[in-house]
Formats: sequence, C-alpha cells, structure tokens
Amino acid sequence: MTELNDLPIRDSLKGRTPYGAPQLHVPVALNVNENTHELPEEILVDVIRRIAESLSTINRYPDREFTVLRELLSGYVGHGLTPQNIWAANGSNEVLQQLFMAFGGTGRKALSFSPTYSMYSLIAQSTDTEYVEVPRLERYEITVDLVTKAIAEHNPDMILICSPNNPTGTPVDLEVIEAAYAATKGMLVVDEAYSEFSLNENSALSLLEGRPRLVISKTMSKAFAFAGARLGYLAADKAVCDAMRLVRLPYHLSALTQAAAEAALTHSVKMLETVADIRDQRDRLYVALQDLGLDPYRSDANFILVGGIANPDEIWQKLLDKGILVRNVGIPNTLRITAGTEAETTEVIDALTELLGKK
Ligand SMILES: Cc1ncc(COP(=O)(O)O)c(C=O)c1O
Repeated sequence: MTELNDLPIRDSLKGRTPYGAPQLHVPVALNVNENTHELPEEILVDVIRRIAESLSTINRYPDREFTVLRELLSGYVGHGLTPQNIWAANGSNEVLQQLFMAFGGTGRKALSFSPTYSMYSLIAQSTDTEYVEVPRLERYEITVDLVTKAIAEHNPDMILICSPNNPTGTPVDLEVIEAAYAATKGMLVVDEAYSEFSLNENSALSLLEGRPRLVISKTMSKAFAFAGARLGYLAADKAVCDAMRLVRLPYHLSALTQAAAEAALTHSVKMLETVADIRDQRDRLYVALQDLGLDPYRSDANFILVGGIANPDEIWQKLLDKGILVRNVGIPNTLRITAGTEAETTEVIDALTELLGKK
C-alpha cells in the first residue's frame, strides 16, 4: 500500500499531521467553539430564497469581487470602513492562508504567542514560512513588554495576535496591539474570530486608521452561527486587499456562499441575538467550574480553558461516554469547553459534577 511519504511530497510536509479536531456525532458537541444555537427559521427561509435566486445565473462565474457582500460586511464592521477595506474568503482560515501567501513564504518569519490557534503553525508549514511561538506569561496573558521584546528578538515579517485568544480565552489590551504595531515593520494580524463575545468594546478595528500594516481578521463562523457556510473576512487598508487579489484563486467565493452570507448579514442584529445568552452561559460555567475546585482561565470568548484536571484524557472520554464532546488541546491538566445553550451548559456542569465525585 502506498504511504504518504512514498509520494514525491515536498520535504517540508514530510511527517506532518493535518488539523484534526474529532468530528463525532454526539448530542452535546462543545468542542470547536461553534455557536450551538440554531438560526431562527425566518432567517433560514431568507437564506434559502437568496440562494435560490442565485441559482438562476449559476451557469456563470460569480462576482469575483463579491461587491455586494463587501458592502454589507463594511456596514457591519462600521468604524468608517468602506468596501475597499474589506476582503473575504471561505472561512477566516482561508483569509489567514492568503495572508501567509502574500506576506510569509520562503525566507520569511511569522511570530505568535503560545498557546494559540493551532492553524497558524500549520499554515506557516504549508506556505514554507518559518514560525516562532513565544510562550505567554502567567495565566496566558500577554503584555506590551513581552510582545515588544519578542518582536525585537525575532524581527518577524508577520505577527499573529489572537484576541480573545484561542484556546485560552484571554483578551488582549489595545495598548499591546498599538505597541506591537509600532515595534514592527512587518504585518500585524489581529485574529478577532471571537470578538463579538467580548463585553468590553476593545476591537482593534478602532486602530486601523493610519496603520496600513494592521489587519483585523474576523469570521461569521462563531457569533453569527454560520460556521457551515464558510465565510471569513478581514478589515485593513485597501492595499492589503490588493495583496489578497494577487494570491486568491479566481472566483474563490462561490455564488452560493455569497448569496447565503449576504442574506445572513441583512439579519445581523437577529443573528447575534444569542450572543448575550452565550456570554451568560460562559460566566455560569466559569463559576460552576470554580465551585468544582477546578481552575478556569478568564475568557472573553465563547469557551473556557479549564485547568486543574488531573486526568484530562480520562475525563474527556467519560464525558464522551455521556454524549458530551469537549476538546483536549494538549495543554497539561486542561480541557477546553465551549459555552453552549443553557441546556447544554447544564449537561456539561452536571456531568463534570458527577465525574469529579462532587454529587
Ligand atoms: C482563533 C481562530 N481563528 C480563526 C478560526 C477559523 O475559523 P473559520 O475558518 O471558520 O472562520 C478559528 C476557528 O476555530 C479560530 O479559533
């Protein structure tokens, strides 16, 4: 049987493992930080209507510039941004990949702060970008001092700061972003996949003006409850969008994706109605985890990294046996749990209470 390494694959890909969060069909899936609420039927009906309309011209390539979608996205992000400041792709993973293709590559270096989103290192590998991770401080915080010293030491072409950070939930102060930008001549990418779950209005969108090397990456996969549609986007200087045009494949956003996302964005207020409840569930989960004697980390996202678990593999399996899927991200003595609906959160709290022998 032919093995992967029998093929004339690039040396830099030999021995690598792909991204692989388990995709298991369980009643309570709290493992990949989705919004677990279903969308209201009236929105779904509108999405179907828009997709159906787009089918009448499906024999033609879609609008390569996804003009209507960029208008709607710029309206949603606000901050005086125009469609020229917006770029989109099939999930923010593809946005990140396009950024690496344009600003990383052979002979270039990217920097981030570990533990952080695992795709940064995987995309760096697949684009032959050198990738350095500097460990975060106590409780996974990052500071002006840590970030500016790391930039001075490594002189990266790209810096990725995830805020709130996955998998730790840690928010990042805007002064850290400002200092990182001032300290580098490279591109600074702030990954705000989870920013809608943050209560303090500290989006780095407010820093874009006058900072052409700053990029804010966002997604409809999380707060918008639209992960299956695959729509991520960035806000940045117009020149950054021109760089994306050099590396994207023509017509990368299908007519169906554009139609679905356009319909969803016209309902953005309604789509985001569950966000407040998810925050409440996250905060409730945090208190419950503390009451169980565990060590949850502060989180501004829709998930919590919980420490103090002596045997995470065993607890992960026992939760799965009860139909609850959480994530073991490989940080010793931790598991990461997405805040779901009220019922799902109750289930995971009850299951942990039982497993930890507190009941
Ligand atoms: C920090 C972060 N960025 C980006 C993504 C990618 O999301 P998507 O490609 O669905 O937009 C994720 C997904 O989990 C994430 O956690």
